[in-house]
Amino acid sequence: MSHVLLITSSPRGADSLSSRFATEIAEGIKTNSSGTLTVRDLLADPLPHITSAYIQGRVTAPENRTPDQVAAVQLAQELVDELKAADVVVIGSGMINFGPSSQLKAWFDHVTWPSVTFGYGDKGPKGLLTGKKVYLVVAAGGVFSEGVWAPFDFQSNYLLHLLSFIGLTDVEMVRVEGTVFGPDAAKAAIANTEASVQALLTKVA
Ligand SMILES: Cc1cc2nc3c(=O)[nH]c(=O)nc-3n(C[C@H](O)[C@H](O)[C@H](O)COP(=O)(O)O)c2cc1C
Repeated sequence: MSHVLLITSSPRGADSLSSRFATEIAEGIKTNSSGTLTVRDLLADPLPHITSAYIQGRVTAPENRTPDQVAAVQLAQELVDELKAADVVVIGSGMINFGPSSQLKAWFDHVTWPSVTFGYGDKGPKGLLTGKKVYLVVAAGGVFSEGVWAPFDFQSNYLLHLLSFIGLTDVEMVRVEGTVFGPDAAKAAIANTEASVQALLTKVA
């Protein structure tokens, strides 16, 4: 029985392929494992950018925080608690200007928290979240898994780096890419991802 956290983040709403496939994976794992699901929809419920209230608040003793700092730290704590509670995390990310959306960036800015989700050990930084499986669905109009655009895949490189920085190293990535090259290419790309998702779900109990 797995507790699944689904995070969707594309600004394209109902048209989003990353949200569609991430939702399919999260619901499939929930069903297969007779588990539970928490949904964090960053488009419907956007996070603020981090501010000085959060940055100062998290290094200020709780009893000395201003009301703004209390609210900012409380929000970040809620996001971290949600993440800690999950056995499986499914993230949907659509490429926006070669990186992840600002919605998803804001989530990482809240949960990448010194001494809470990462620390520094003898050998440098150490992620403090462990033992979770992550499924990362990345969508892009172009093709970034190979070819001339691969060096510009700042989306998945950023996401994989940040996940591993906070300790989430067991990541399986699903791509839906090459959807801007006309309707036939888009159809083929979507069918390809659908097949990958189905194959993935047959492996996940
Ligand atoms: C504002 C905007 C910026 C985009 N920037 C890029 C880009 O830099 N590179 C790319 O290959 N596709 C880009 N796209 C296409 C999206 O990555 C593509 O539609 C993808 O499917 C988005 O993910 P989603 O389906 O989950 O919304 C962009 C789309 C939008 C709306």
